[in-house]
Amino acid sequence: MKKRTLSAIAILVVVLFMWCRDSLMAQDKYELKAPNGISFSEIRGYETWQVIAPSYRTDNNELRAILGNTIMINAYKDGIPGNGKSFPEGSVIVKIGWSERKSPVFPAAHEPDVLKRVEFIMKDSRRFPSTSGWGYARFLYDAKTATFTPFGKDDSFAQECYQCHAIVKAKDFIFTAYPQR
Ligand code: HEC
Repeated sequence: MKKRTLSAIAILVVVLFMWCRDSLMAQDKYELKAPNGISFSEIRGYETWQVIAPSYRTDNNELRAILGNTIMINAYKDGIPGNGKSFPEGSVIVKIGWSERKSPVFPAAHEPDVLKRVEFIMKDSRRFPSTSGWGYARFLYDAKTATFTPFGKDDSFAQECYQCHAIVKAKDFIFTAYPQR
């Protein structure tokens, strides 16, 4: 065999090896579960859900997009929670958080930088009676390893979420409103 053919084969073998290694090592986030049993896969496809609102936390400089499934979006459109009614069973609301940076091409504009978290709250009253019907889950993202990790040592983490969200008990425990667009 010619030298050139041999080196072409060698390159091919290396490329194939790297490709296999990457695809074997890539994490399937949807296999992860929060310590209270909620699976990441319960929001499968959330990447394309409708936007409810953006938000920004000044204490950790995090930009957020808050998204809802169809049940949640329709509930807002029906006037919930302003009309005193609760979000229906099956409502799911997702928050995606990124660190922020100044736009490299227009520094007055700030934009998402690195993905930090995906978390969500889902209404299932039978499943989550101790937190007023809402189930909480948070998955923290580490950009260095490109992996998500479920938040919380055990299922008591949800009480922490619930206690702070109780500030807006009158709005069925949901902070974010659906602004005009
Ligand atoms: C100390 C208070 C506090 C704690 C603890 C907390 N949250 Fe929140 N959460 C907020 C505030 C304030 C907002 C609205 C502003 C924003 O998006 O940052 C919010 C918004 C959200 C939203 C978007 C829906 C909404 O209510 O507006 C989700 C989803 C969410 N939180 C999930 C969680 C989960 C899961 C946990 C626990 C692992 C948790 N939160 C713990 C304060 C808290």
